[in-house]
Amino acid sequence: MQADKKTLQLIEELNTRFDKKNPEDVLGFFLLECKRKIALSSSLGAEDQVLTEMISKIDPETKIFTLDTGRLFPETYDLISETNKKYHIKIEVFFPDYKSVETMVKEKGINLFYESIENRKLCCHLRKIEPAKRAFKGLDVWISGLRKDQSLNRFNTKLVEWDEVNGLIKVNPLLNWSEKDVWNYIKEKDVPYNALHDKGFPSIGCQPCTRAVKKDEDIRAGRWWWEEAEHNECGLHVK
Ligand code: ADX
Ligand code: SF4
Repeated sequence: MQADKKTLQLIEELNTRFDKKNPEDVLGFFLLECKRKIALSSSLGAEDQVLTEMISKIDPETKIFTLDTGRLFPETYDLISETNKKYHIKIEVFFPDYKSVETMVKEKGINLFYESIENRKLCCHLRKIEPAKRAFKGLDVWISGLRKDQSLNRFNTKLVEWDEVNGLIKVNPLLNWSEKDVWNYIKEKDVPYNALHDKGFPSIGCQPCTRAVKKDEDIRAGRWWWEEAEHNECGLHVK
């Protein structure tokens, strides 16, 4: 869905206005202006935990949702529970359509993703992209934990942008933070984080598609590691 001229102009103005502002200021503005029409999509990754801490201080009623693909790590489920308890919130969990998943598995196998990029994208589509559409229903703004230096694919991401797939304004408050900024914040504020981060997993997705990385490897090298780096996205953040 294309954005109208007025929305594109607004996005441009907001990018200028919030350039160099800290994430709390960005969140403060959007959470107030877009009350009940805004949500954080959280993978329970380090960046999303930072945003959850910030949001809980500004407006704990804000919708936070996660896409449970059915293939997540046990550590991720534990963190959903721990985060809910710590912040007195209820992260909404969205599941894939079971019929589509059953058909996919019947036709292509339980671990189809290792066989081709096409299969992998189909699995991501049914387990993540489709449920995300339901999670976005009724919303105007999507908060995400993208950072520029996570990958080359993400380098041209803007603080505020239009998401054509879902017809929403997307805000990336941590866009200009480094990995170090994220971890300093987590330690300083005692934010709960995924136990796998201490075991060599800087970026965490589904269990069969994520492995630990070595010290000199890229932070996203463990995601869909059998594919070339340029395919290194599930499709949630397409341009
Ligand atoms: S991914 O596209 O490669 O999986 P990544 O793990 O880097 O994404 O996370 C980037 C952002 O995408 C997160 O900050 C979050 O906003 C969103 N995201 C990724 N996975 C999920 C998920 N399972 N549920 C909700 N949001 C997610
Ligand atoms: Fe399927 Fe792997 Fe994508 Fe998860 S990351 S949805 S298991 S292909």
